[in-house]
Amino acid sequence: MCGIYGYIGNTTINNFVDKLSLLEYRGYDSCGIAYNYNNHIILIRTKGNTNNLKRIINNNTIQIGIGHTRWATHGKISPINAHPHTSRNNRFYCVHNGVIENYQELKDKYNIQTISESDSAIIPVILDFLINKYSIIDSLKILIKEFVGTYAIAIMDRYNPETLYFIKNKSPLLISKSDNNISISSDQISFNDGEKIIVLNDLDYGSISKKEIIINNYLSDNERVTFIKNESQLCKRNEAYYMLDEIYFEKKLPSIISEKYKRIHLDEYKMTITTSKELVFIGSGSSYYAASILAYEYEKKLNKRCFSLIASEVKNFNISNNSMFITLSQSGETMDLCDAIDYLKSKNQRIISICNIVHSTIGFKSDCVYPLSVGREISVASTKAFMAMLYVGRGLLDNSYFNNSIYISHSIKNALLLEPKIIEISKRISSSNFIFYVGSGIDYLYSLEASLKLREISYLHSLSIQTGELKHGSLALVDFNTYCIGILSSLDSKARLESSLSEVSSRGGKTIIISNVYNKADLFYEGDSLGLIVIIQLIAFHTARLLNRTIDQPRNLAKSVTVK
Ligand code: G6P
Repeated sequence: MCGIYGYIGNTTINNFVDKLSLLEYRGYDSCGIAYNYNNHIILIRTKGNTNNLKRIINNNTIQIGIGHTRWATHGKISPINAHPHTSRNNRFYCVHNGVIENYQELKDKYNIQTISESDSAIIPVILDFLINKYSIIDSLKILIKEFVGTYAIAIMDRYNPETLYFIKNKSPLLISKSDNNISISSDQISFNDGEKIIVLNDLDYGSISKKEIIINNYLSDNERVTFIKNESQLCKRNEAYYMLDEIYFEKKLPSIISEKYKRIHLDEYKMTITTSKELVFIGSGSSYYAASILAYEYEKKLNKRCFSLIASEVKNFNISNNSMFITLSQSGETMDLCDAIDYLKSKNQRIISICNIVHSTIGFKSDCVYPLSVGREISVASTKAFMAMLYVGRGLLDNSYFNNSIYISHSIKNALLLEPKIIEISKRISSSNFIFYVGSGIDYLYSLEASLKLREISYLHSLSIQTGELKHGSLALVDFNTYCIGILSSLDSKARLESSLSEVSSRGGKTIIISNVYNKADLFYEGDSLGLIVIIQLIAFHTARLLNRTIDQPRNLAKSVTVK
């Protein structure tokens, strides 16, 4: 995972770190920068996110620098394991996103001793070794030959203070150039709107400077995708938390998406889902739950086999030739999903993606991309993007759904009005030792997302289970400090839910019902079931807030998971 950023131009260190902070969604357990100042390279590394960096930097002007935000894979979270890494003679400084899988073998081969436990620490040391015999560019080519694994690497050379070097395989790396600046980054988010962006291919290596961009490829020279950056804006941070802004944004989402889809041709999608024998929806994390909900709804409507797969498990399933694969991703960068797509493509399958970031690795790999169009999501726990996946997926299935935007938006607003009651409920569950979410049919799928959302930001133990299944084992966990929250979007499931919940309360557990159809529920609103999503998100948010969690950046997680 991790974010890497390199810049050549004229900027202040503060501005440089601001750009780097935009990559924090890729990891925020530690970070670091290296920049050239008066022909000295200054290296600063710290635990924590870029706010910690800001406390220790000055605001000098710099012309060249590289930076990194880390999500630890090899080596504990510490300044020594943070990037940039350098070698003993401090010539090369490197930032790396990905994993050098054969780093132990390379350590033996080049007889490398590093203080850092990070796999990335070997990169500048090997470069130091190679530079005795080869040019920098040839050394980069040898690094590609040597490395097994995934990497986007930016390198600064003390002896060439106007140039940055790079190599790339599997981890995303993009270059952007304007009249006065040139930058390299894991994500277009750190570039300015209107800049021309070059998307590097796997096994590319080369250099960037104000004078020229040199890009070579280790194997072939396929053309590179370019585009002009024109991204929709982030949620404006009105609240102390992006997550709360992003939840409140959901009431606007139906009209924004419906407007957008008026201008998109949907006939091809319709034909594909009608003619395919079966539809397979694929995603990771919350996107997998969105995939499961859509599979459930598509199967009901189309009367054909539709199911969902966890991206990292795709290779364990037989691929049938008449299937259509629909992938879902907020970031467009999740490595598990990228791998699944590569695997399916190697079996000559076509991929449709529903994705928030169209100009992304998953966007580029797919045969066809349908955008979510809800702007960047910043908080690690997915909210508006999850809701948008359901809205877009439903609209693609039945285009007339896009005409319902006023009604859906109204339902979401009704659910938001329950916030004071939700806070009261969050107060109760925040002292619980275990929270079950239960539901039947599609409500079970909602409950999976509800439980994930709660544990990822509150760190409370939570499990989701089918209403009728609770008594077959998991009821053993219930005691007076357990909460069981039932989700109910169809009165057909009411009797079963009530009997399950009464089994919980007979054993001292506390129960809560959330519903859009049962007006005696603890949390009831009128309208579409998408409002249920708002409620489960707000429960997670307020519980985490009451427990003083770092909501937008929960411990151990990252927004975009670009490792296997
Ligand atoms: C990470 C995030 C989750 C997200 C999942 C899939 O684990 O923390 O919130 O659901 O990745 O991400 P994607 O960008 O593919 O939707």
